[in-house]
Amino acid sequence: MEFSIKQGSPDKQRSDCVVVGVYEGGKLSAASQLLDKASKHALSDLIARGDMSGKSSTTLLLHRLPGLTAERVLLVGLGKASELNNKTSVDILRATFSALNNTSAKDATLFVADDAIGNDTAWVIRQAVFAAAESTYRADSLKSKPAKAATLKHITFATLDKPAATLKNALDQAAATAHGMELAKTLGNLPGNICTPTYLATQALALGKAHKNIKTTVLEEKDMQKLGMGSFLSVTRGSEQPAKLITMEYSGADKKQKPVVLVGKGITFDSGGISLKPGAEMDEMKYDMCGAASVFGTMQAIAQLGLKINVVGIIPTCENLPSGAAIKPGDIVTSMSGQTIEILNTDAEGRLILCDALTYSAKFKPDTVIDIATLTGACVIALGHVASGLLSNEDKLATELLTAGEQAHDRAWQLPLWEDYQPLLDSNFADMQNIGGRAGGTITAACFLARFTRDYRWAHLDIAGTAWKSGKEKGATGRPVPLLTQYLINRATSK
Ligand code: BES
Ligand code: MN
Ligand code: ZN
Repeated sequence: MEFSIKQGSPDKQRSDCVVVGVYEGGKLSAASQLLDKASKHALSDLIARGDMSGKSSTTLLLHRLPGLTAERVLLVGLGKASELNNKTSVDILRATFSALNNTSAKDATLFVADDAIGNDTAWVIRQAVFAAAESTYRADSLKSKPAKAATLKHITFATLDKPAATLKNALDQAAATAHGMELAKTLGNLPGNICTPTYLATQALALGKAHKNIKTTVLEEKDMQKLGMGSFLSVTRGSEQPAKLITMEYSGADKKQKPVVLVGKGITFDSGGISLKPGAEMDEMKYDMCGAASVFGTMQAIAQLGLKINVVGIIPTCENLPSGAAIKPGDIVTSMSGQTIEILNTDAEGRLILCDALTYSAKFKPDTVIDIATLTGACVIALGHVASGLLSNEDKLATELLTAGEQAHDRAWQLPLWEDYQPLLDSNFADMQNIGGRAGGTITAACFLARFTRDYRWAHLDIAGTAWKSGKEKGATGRPVPLLTQYLINRATSK
């Protein structure tokens, strides 16, 4: 999908389809007024006849209106102006692209910007790009007869006045973000027998090849052994697939600038190990590498944008499987930090691989470390599938991430990381245990990680509820690539 932005008049577009908005009650947006005039009031006539109510997210496709150069016009209901908000705007954009994909239009010209439906124009353009990309995404590369690819290939955003440079920037950023989300979705949707730790390492090396300012290195189990990563290595023991520790270093700024480190959980399949999960929906645990996938997507997006910032992506990746060699409840392991861990539940494996990756992160003298992980079922109970969980040892960083989430409409919600929760991790036999009980499961998981991140500014995103959808719509969402990319854009462009 390609995107562009330009100034133009809706009646003079050489386009397969021009898209304009109509408010509930029949009020025309600025662009639809111009179309109405050029078409000798075709729009006001059909509104008067009752064929378009303007109700939010309704659409009406018109062909070959007199006086217009475009083949088609898609009228989109904007609802009542007073009821336009972030949610209704996104719903309207989704309805728009679903209607466009039901036509054979190869390109479309959208006049979404002039009325800035419910928000600032840059925000609407970003969401339009995400909705367009989502509507044409296919996850059928493994079907013997893949469905026909979408015909819609090019979206033009047209504005009545000359588009500001900030809008062009917003468009480029959104296009790169959507491209990164697509990579994250594709990796997430691949099954565990294809998307193994070795496969992820190969993809990381390929990303390094494709972008000259990304340098990829892959550590093998023997290297991790030398580093003392006893916690990470304990998780992979039940698996036949070798674990990998992937590092992707993006250099977009002066060497002296301290990097932001992104650490993504890369469990390519989580069976629970000896603490085996129940069978129902266990297939969805192929998505337990979506934190890693979001690091891939974000690295690709910032490289495409050439952001002036240094970012390191670190991905600990392995499988969590039961076998005679697997770790058992009660086993005690020593992490790279020297702290010992009593493993009371082998299904709390994410924190066991992340803690060593977080200790390893310090080697890059980070300014900030953010880990992204499908870490706890408890987060799905707390926040559902709308917001990602956010916990941080610095409130300023938490606020920056919350803001980026609002800007990208990829929202997070902060939970407390108070010391009061820490005693839940006390063990009789080791420095800590790897579970804190059912109460506050997302918080105690983050408290565990906090014991390994004392030396730097750090935030944790629990994406267990937001990284993929279940049921009929099963599929990876590409979240939180938008939040992370927006955060890095904000950092690279401030000061
Ligand atoms: N990958 C899971 C978390 C998960 C579960 C994400 C369901 C999305 C949906 C993680 O490794 C896990 O199993 N966590 C356990 C922790 C518990 C044993 C303390 C959980 O949440 O049940
Ligand atoms: Mn698990
Ligand atoms: Zn897991």
